[in-house]
Amino acid sequence: MKLLLTVLKRTHRPAVYFSHRRRLSSCASGGLSPLRDEVIVGSSRELVQTLGSQVEVRTGFITEEEEAALLQELEPSLKKKRYEFDHWDDAIHGYRETERGRWGPACEEVLNRLRSAAFAEGSPLLGPVHVLDLDKTGYIKPHVDSVKFCGSTIAGLSLLSDSIMRLVKEDAPKEWLDMLLSRRSLYILRDQARYDFTHEILKDEESAFNGRRVPRQRRISVICRNLPG
Ligand code: OGA
Ligand code: MN
Repeated sequence: MKLLLTVLKRTHRPAVYFSHRRRLSSCASGGLSPLRDEVIVGSSRELVQTLGSQVEVRTGFITEEEEAALLQELEPSLKKKRYEFDHWDDAIHGYRETERGRWGPACEEVLNRLRSAAFAEGSPLLGPVHVLDLDKTGYIKPHVDSVKFCGSTIAGLSLLSDSIMRLVKEDAPKEWLDMLLSRRSLYILRDQARYDFTHEILKDEESAFNGRRVPRQRRISVICRNLPG
């Protein structure tokens, strides 16, 4: 029901606004296409500005080697599971998942970098790291993470594929933000962005950023969360 509502409300989209100030050179070219560093667009300038401090995308946060190290460590346990498709009421479609507490040194180093980028030093984190493997046809429907089990910050690495994360304000569905999560990027959602907005990962057919198609392949996310305060 909520999903349907969101879809209906989105058919009339207002102009989009970028998170970064447009450079003169780009104005001169007259094009509306995003600059390379524009990874967040939204329904209004105000929204992009106010939510901007609570939403972050760091493109190229990990190297190809680090991505390969994570995959090498994760594939064996993921491959033992089957993708789940048939639970129509699940928040996630076409996925398998695992949790991991212990990592090899290369991966641990990456995770420590993620933790220091996203969380205040010493803030208590949810023990195991959550790993979510979306099939090429898989997607995540709009939802808010459990406030009972997770705290104010969610941080995730995207492996294997670019994707679009969409935030929609729960009590005002015309307010939305799209984040371009490129392969090997890190995203962070904090506070209002985490509590007052649903987040979702678009399915391949709908996967576009500011009108430009962003093909979705199989995607693995590695997600760290803190504990409720
Ligand atoms: C989740 C979620 C986002 C992602 O598992 O709750 O929203 O990046 N995941 O996979
Ligand atoms: Mn979530």
